Amino acid sequence: MKLNIAVLPGDGIGPEIVEQAMKAVKAVCDKFGHELTYKEALVGAIAIDETGNPYPDETHELCMQSDAVLFGAIGSPKYDNNPSAKVRPEQGLLGMRKKLGLYANIRPVTTFPSLIHKSPLQADLVEGADFMCIRELTGGMYFGRPQGRSEDGNTAYDTCIYTREEVERIVRLAYQYAEKRRKKVTIVDKANVLATSRLWRQVSQEIEKEYPNVETEYMFVDNAAMRIIQWPKSFDVMVTENMFGDILTDEASVITGSLGMLPSASIGIHTSVFEPIHGSYPQAAGKNIANPLATVLSAALMFEYAFNLMEEGKIIRDAVTASMDANVVTEDIAAEGKAYNTSEVGDWIAGWIAKQ
Ligand code: IPM
Ligand code: MG
Repeated sequence: MKLNIAVLPGDGIGPEIVEQAMKAVKAVCDKFGHELTYKEALVGAIAIDETGNPYPDETHELCMQSDAVLFGAIGSPKYDNNPSAKVRPEQGLLGMRKKLGLYANIRPVTTFPSLIHKSPLQADLVEGADFMCIRELTGGMYFGRPQGRSEDGNTAYDTCIYTREEVERIVRLAYQYAEKRRKKVTIVDKANVLATSRLWRQVSQEIEKEYPNVETEYMFVDNAAMRIIQWPKSFDVMVTENMFGDILTDEASVITGSLGMLPSASIGIHTSVFEPIHGSYPQAAGKNIANPLATVLSAALMFEYAFNLMEEGKIIRDAVTASMDANVVTEDIAAEGKAYNTSEVGDWIAGWIAKQ
C-alpha cells in the first residue's frame, strides 16, 4: 500500500518524539512492504518564528494532500509568559483542527501492567481500566466568538457555543464506538449550569433512543473528574465537549502511570491527525529524555484509523509493551535503576519490529 503522510514535529520535544515514531513507522513499512512517502512542515512557535503564521498555508496544503498527519507538540514558554502576544503557537494547532474539520478527538485510556506501580492510584483500582474518551474538538469555548477584552483591559470574555449538528455528530460517533466495545456511553456535561450543556443533554437524549442496546449514563463534569480517580473501570466510552475533554483526558492519562503514554486520533472531515495528548515539555527539549511512547502509539493509531492496517498497528503496540517489559524506557517511567534516552527507546522499538 502507498502511504503518504505529513509530519509536523512542532515545538519543544516535538521533533525528538516524532523522530522516534517515524523510526517505528519506517520499520513497519519495511516489514509489510508498504511504500512510504512523507514530508515535514512547520507548525507552532517555530512556524511563527519562520513565517509569522503558526499554521502556514503551505502546511495546510500539505496536510490536505496527505493521507494522514503525524503531529508532535506545540507551545513555547516564550508565549506562555506573554499574555499580550498577538499570535500564539496554540492557534496553529487550533487552526489546523478547524481547517481540517477534525471534530472528534479520540483518546483511548488503557493501562499497562508494567506501569501500574507508577499510577497514583491503588493498583486494584486501575488494573484493567480501559475506556475511550471522545472529546469534541472544533467547538465550545476554544472557538466561540466573541472572545477578548474590554477597551480598558479589565474585563475579559470567552464564549461557549454549540449547535445541534455539532452535538449530534459527536454523540453518534460515541455510540458507534460503544456498540463495538462494552456498550456503555457516559455523556459528560454541566447541564445544571450551562445552556450549551443542556443542549448536549437534550440532543443526547434523542440520539440515545436510536441505540437501545447501549447503556447511557449522564454525568456532570465535576462528578466525572471524581469518578475517573475513584472508579475508572466504570467507564467504556465517555463523550464530552472540547474544554471538559481537554481537562479530563490529562487527568485520565496520569492514572495509567504517565502523561507520556497516551496517544490520540483526531478525525473528521479532511485528513486525520495523530498526536500525543501531552504538550511540548519545553524543559526537556533537546535533552533526549522525553518519553516518545505516546507518539509511537499515535503512529499505531494512524495505521489503524487512517489506513485500516490493523496488524501494522498491533505490531507497534506490541513493540511498546515489549520495551516496557524489557525496561527500555525513559526516566519518567523507568523502574529503579537505568533509564534510556528518547532515541535509544526509538531505536529499540524499531529494532524489535524488524525482528518479528
Ligand atoms: C491538547 C492540548 C491543546 C488543547 C493545547 C496545546 C492548545 O492541551 O491537545 O490537549 O488544549 O487542545
Ligand atoms: Mg490538553
